[in-house]
Amino acid sequence: MSSTASAGVSLASVAPVDITGAVDSFTDAFLTRNRVATTTLAGRTTMRVGGACTLVTLDARDDLGELMDRPRRWLGKGANLLVGDDGVAEPVVVLGRDFTALEIGDIRGGRATVRAGAAVDLAKLIAACVAAGLAGPEGLAGVPATVGGALRMNAGTSTCWTLDWVRRVEVVLPGDTAPRWLERSELPAAYRTSGLPKGTLFVGCELELAADDPGKLKATATRLKQAKAASQPLALPSAGCVFKNPSPELPAGKLIDQLGLKGERVGGAQVSPVHANFIVNDQGARCADVAALIRRIRRRAWDERGVVLTMEVETWGCPDDLHAHPREVSA
Ligand code: EPU
Repeated sequence: MSSTASAGVSLASVAPVDITGAVDSFTDAFLTRNRVATTTLAGRTTMRVGGACTLVTLDARDDLGELMDRPRRWLGKGANLLVGDDGVAEPVVVLGRDFTALEIGDIRGGRATVRAGAAVDLAKLIAACVAAGLAGPEGLAGVPATVGGALRMNAGTSTCWTLDWVRRVEVVLPGDTAPRWLERSELPAAYRTSGLPKGTLFVGCELELAADDPGKLKATATRLKQAKAASQPLALPSAGCVFKNPSPELPAGKLIDQLGLKGERVGGAQVSPVHANFIVNDQGARCADVAALIRRIRRRAWDERGVVLTMEVETWGCPDDLHAHPREVSA
């Protein structure tokens, strides 16, 4: 943890990244069934920042084992992620073909079971449930995520969370080599977390949903999407809300707004003038710009209001001080 970092510093505290030879480290059989390429994470995140990585698209479920006994990172839609300008050394894995199943069960006794693979787009799951007249997921309308990412983050809105309707999840826990099912009651889930250890892979889930009128569900989804469009800067690249709300009474956006930081800029990144808990990349930002803004916001919230803002956005290959106590950070 750095106590000397200051705003605008380079990412010097981040270890140099070397991804040469990464492709060669996979077996021929793995490379036949799955896709491995070098790419930039700026192209795989909604924030549009982040350096190079080795990107593995895992199409074959049978090859999970080869990934589990090596360092790796799991990537969903990249909608809640800030990646350092130097990228990351570990292979970044997105789930492909074998993780895209979506099954909507028949309604019996007013309820139905839905199964979704982790690679399914959350919007697709929501649309399918709405069309089938199954209630719950419409409350997540407008949340950008894959099913796996939404489960991991327990993504949600101010009224509901992903794990609210989940009966069980299929996961590979760190140290395991094969998936197992966990009942919802076994998850220590909370606001914006599934409660499972860092490095857990979500493979899929089973939902149990109550039947309801599809027209009503569709109207709810439309209303939620319109409310988001009216209050959030959806047209510009961002990672959504940057900080967790310190409490329901003190939303981070309101606090940052009260601190007068809307419109504050470092390089190509700006605190959104629309919603203060969003940092938008409106001018080709680097991660260093975003990190400097984050430090500034956290420092001001601490100095002026005694509030520790914690990151909602996940960080990869970023300076550790983004997670340090703000009194240790100069901004
Ligand atoms: N507010 C301000 N100024 C701002 C932004 C907000 O005063 O610049 C005030 C609003 O007027 C409102 C309060 O703060 O009184 C809360 O704002 P909002 O209704 O926009 O909700 P939020 O708590 O900021 C949460 C989630 C969002 C989710 C919305 C809508 C968190 C950190 N954020 O935002 O999730 O979209 O509710 O349900 O829990 C995300 O997770 O990335 C995300 C954007």
